[in-house]
Amino acid sequence: MPVTTADLAAWKQRRERFIMLTAYDALTARVLDEAGVPLLLVGDSLGNNVLGYDTTIPVTMEDSLTFTAAVARGARNAMVVGDLPFGSYQASAAEAVRNAARLVKVGANAVKLEGGRRSAKAVRKMTEAGIPVMGHLGFTPQSANAFGRKVVRGRGDEGEELLADALALQEAGCFSVVLEAIPAELGARVTEALDVATIGIGAGPDCDGQVLVITDLLGLTPDPTPRFVKRYADLRAIIAEAATRFAKDVAEGHYPGPEHQYH
Ligand code: KIV
Repeated sequence: MPVTTADLAAWKQRRERFIMLTAYDALTARVLDEAGVPLLLVGDSLGNNVLGYDTTIPVTMEDSLTFTAAVARGARNAMVVGDLPFGSYQASAAEAVRNAARLVKVGANAVKLEGGRRSAKAVRKMTEAGIPVMGHLGFTPQSANAFGRKVVRGRGDEGEELLADALALQEAGCFSVVLEAIPAELGARVTEALDVATIGIGAGPDCDGQVLVITDLLGLTPDPTPRFVKRYADLRAIIAEAATRFAKDVAEGHYPGPEHQYH
């Protein structure tokens, strides 16, 4: 049965922790879906992890549509969350609804956008249009130019601002809120204050769910990685070793063998 926003509400109520992973392609989406991952985020982190940009800022609506469609084709049960890229929702709520609807038409079950009170009007319009919306607070990568080098958000007085933003997103209709790179104590406080689920990435252990970027989880992302990253595999080494063995086989005449040949 496909995962819905009602499932997240139930998990929050039962204090059942859950995960979300990013995915950018159909094959990975299928593996993760079959492994039971309930939420697949086609994050604009595809800008860094697939397209080779330094930030998420250059990612376009067309990029987001292409990769969201690919993930939706690979997923059966997971909720597919399409990310609204920088510039696709800030100008007006009407534009936000138009672009969110485009993501839904290619297979997204929900959309994500960054910002708190400044994005609340767009969130309200999208939810009124029947589009489930996930918020994103704390370190919001689309604001990298404004943030400068300061990564951890919500320290000191900023914590009250972040809490007010989270409540505004909930009030506007968000079904969940991603909290990125904030003190663990603030993650716990926001999670306690909200009726909707929080999903943490560098926001401590008390969030309702945790999200990681798939290339970080699999050990594909080169160092340095943020403090919150935990690698569960070393795909960089596995891929390099496979390529080296292939080159050796070809050099030594072991590949292709008789079983790889047509006659
Ligand atoms: O784009 C992304 O991958 C994200 C996650 C880090 C939450 O926004």
